[in-house]
Amino acid sequence: MSLYAIGDLHLHFGSELKAAGQRNGRIWRDHEARFRENCAGRIRAEDTLVLVGDHSWGHNLGECAPDFDWIAALPGEKILVRGNHDMFWDAKKTEALNTRFSGRMKFLQNNYYAYRDYALVGTKGFTFEGPFRIDRRGRIAGWDEEAEEHARKIVERELERLRISFEAARSAGYRKYLVFLHYPPTSILEHDSGFTRMAEEYGASQVIYAHSHGESRFHDSVEGMKNGVFYRLVSGDFLRWVPEKIMD
Ligand SMILES: [Fe+2]
Ligand SMILES: [Fe+2]
Repeated sequence: MSLYAIGDLHLHFGSELKAAGQRNGRIWRDHEARFRENCAGRIRAEDTLVLVGDHSWGHNLGECAPDFDWIAALPGEKILVRGNHDMFWDAKKTEALNTRFSGRMKFLQNNYYAYRDYALVGTKGFTFEGPFRIDRRGRIAGWDEEAEEHARKIVERELERLRISFEAARSAGYRKYLVFLHYPPTSILEHDSGFTRMAEEYGASQVIYAHSHGESRFHDSVEGMKNGVFYRLVSGDFLRWVPEKIMD
């Protein structure tokens, strides 16, 4: 029995692919087939696979249907985290998704799922990525304060959702946690955040995140061990479409 994770499949079997980077990038060529092959060689029926957001380019459940069929056919139990591109997922209707897809896949938000004696908790998260104002020497002199204020509100809401997830697990008796965030836990220039502090507060073992695409973005956030929590990026292009084993 093993736990695997990967993020950012960005499927488009039933919708139009609008991202030029994905259309032209070598790492994305036939990525669906490569990922499915990599799963077939590793993941068994009794394993769990957490998909850490940005599942589909579809705008609604209808456009996403072929992508969901493809995900459901992957081996193991599938647990999905909400990504910024997942338009089908109304944050207030996670329960309805869980009812609709019961027996095929599970949706993680404001709830938790168990893996051995660990609770899998999670939410989309959020990071502020500028725009920054650069001075004549190329240093960061400030940033868009309005965008930052907007980001602060989203971060607060996401922190609330993560706490609901932690508390649901804790009141059920869990004391060991793995945290899944779609966004990295810290924004560029941050060394910690509400997300890293909450992971420490609950004594989480790991924070697993995705969203960062392309070589230049792979090291934007916390990696490895920090204050007793292990951080790792699992975006699909970073992993070259090999699902990452999180735990046996
Ligand atoms: Fe993505
Ligand atoms: Fe994303």
